[in-house]
Amino acid sequence: MGNGFSILIAGGGSTYTPGIVRLLAHKSSIFPIRQIKLYDNDADRQRLIGDACSILLGAEAPQIDFSYTTDPEEAFTGIDFVMAHIRVGKYAMRELDEKIPLRYGVVGQETCGPGGIAYGMRSIGPIIQLIDYMEKYSPKAWMLNYSNPAAIVAEATNRLRPHSRIINICDMPVCLESKMCSILGLQSRREMLVRYYGLNHFGWFTEITDRQGNDLMPRLKAFIKENGYYVKGDPKAEQEESWKLTYQMAKDVYALAPDTLPNTYLKYYLFPNQVAAHSNPDYTRANEVMDGREKEIFEEARRLIETKDVAGCRFSIGHHADFIVDLARAIAYNTQERMLLIVPNEGAIENFDSDTMVEIPCLVGSNGYEKLSIGKIPRFQKGLMEQQVAVEKLTVDAWIEGSYLKLWQAITMSKTVPGADIAKKILDDFIKVNRDYWPALK
Ligand code: NAD
Ligand code: G6P
Ligand code: MN
Repeated sequence: MGNGFSILIAGGGSTYTPGIVRLLAHKSSIFPIRQIKLYDNDADRQRLIGDACSILLGAEAPQIDFSYTTDPEEAFTGIDFVMAHIRVGKYAMRELDEKIPLRYGVVGQETCGPGGIAYGMRSIGPIIQLIDYMEKYSPKAWMLNYSNPAAIVAEATNRLRPHSRIINICDMPVCLESKMCSILGLQSRREMLVRYYGLNHFGWFTEITDRQGNDLMPRLKAFIKENGYYVKGDPKAEQEESWKLTYQMAKDVYALAPDTLPNTYLKYYLFPNQVAAHSNPDYTRANEVMDGREKEIFEEARRLIETKDVAGCRFSIGHHADFIVDLARAIAYNTQERMLLIVPNEGAIENFDSDTMVEIPCLVGSNGYEKLSIGKIPRFQKGLMEQQVAVEKLTVDAWIEGSYLKLWQAITMSKTVPGADIAKKILDDFIKVNRDYWPALK
């Protein structure tokens, strides 16, 4: 084996795996990798992605030793970083997470509202199991975890494995920073310094400057006030109608807290009725992804396996891959780079509960992260966050205790849900379809 780091991608069959593998290959001069392994519990799904990645690496970075497996011991042994992005229940369950609330006119979303709660109840157990495998077979490794719903997953990992070397992350802020770059005519988000606070998928940018300290907020606000984050010609917005609407709707979300720039996910909490009314209960985002990204990635994998045409490879590298690889490199080389992470508050937001997970800027280095201090936050944001964090904590309580009542309270508490009666109907429907995944509730 050569020099460099050893990386395990858990959820090897994910649509995001090829982009991360390709970026690792391209960055090998500044982040040398000796080994990449994939791990998944669906052998067939992973085989296609694995064989395609093997061909890609054979051409683009043959020095990297590549393999894939469904065996935890083989996967987790000899690892420096676990990059985790599992989807427990896969797209079939995401579709139900989105469609069941819509039966009752409630937001149907992967990570927000009742759908996110249902997904959280599925994800907690398997994520804890990944941590335990890592600690058993590679106790010095770090897990960088994208697996959703990140807010509930982070609350659970902090509660159940508080001393583990896991960092929960989200790519939404860096995606929005790239929109800001388009608005400002900058080349890269690395030209900006941002301050931001909130919960995952529930936060606000408070300061954006360039590296010389010049305030970029006035120009961003002027644009976002009129257009949200929708920039004409942006490929993601032009190709994916639902994302275009989300970027546009940031204009309405912005109006409620115009000192800041919002995370797009706030639309589900601030305009739930409008969002639900505009959703098609028979064709949700899960269907769009199954007919779009999933199909394209697997078709490309098959094409690559058949033709071995690496030069024409269409696996693209996005902000998603960029962010997780930057994070690993910041730990590996102690770069002290500033990044937004989901971490225990512990006083960083002065007037918010100490034992909650918040998304804030941190300096990243070989010992993990050091949090920046946020100070006090305003009443509006604080009130919203307190309600939402209660939803997330009650969900984790429900999982730990096997409590029907706590889960009913969690769904009732969500700002996306109009009342306890509807919450109960949604919960009872969810219990029926999640029998293979949820703990039994009493
Ligand atoms: P996907 O369904 O294509 O891939 C997920 C893979 O995980 C599948 O191959 C599945 O078989 C595997 N898996 C499920 N349970 C597993 C388990 N217990 N052990 C091992 N493997 C398991 O999904 P995707 O669209 O590529 O997304 C992957 C994950 O990344 C999702 O959780 C998604 O929500 C998340 N994600 C998070 C962010 C973020 O901002 N945090 C951004 C993008 C995607
Ligand atoms: C953003 C969010 C992720 C979420 C994804 C959904 O990247 O940060 O948490 O999983 O959007 O994208 P999709 O294309 O699957 O709807
Ligand atoms: Mn996210």
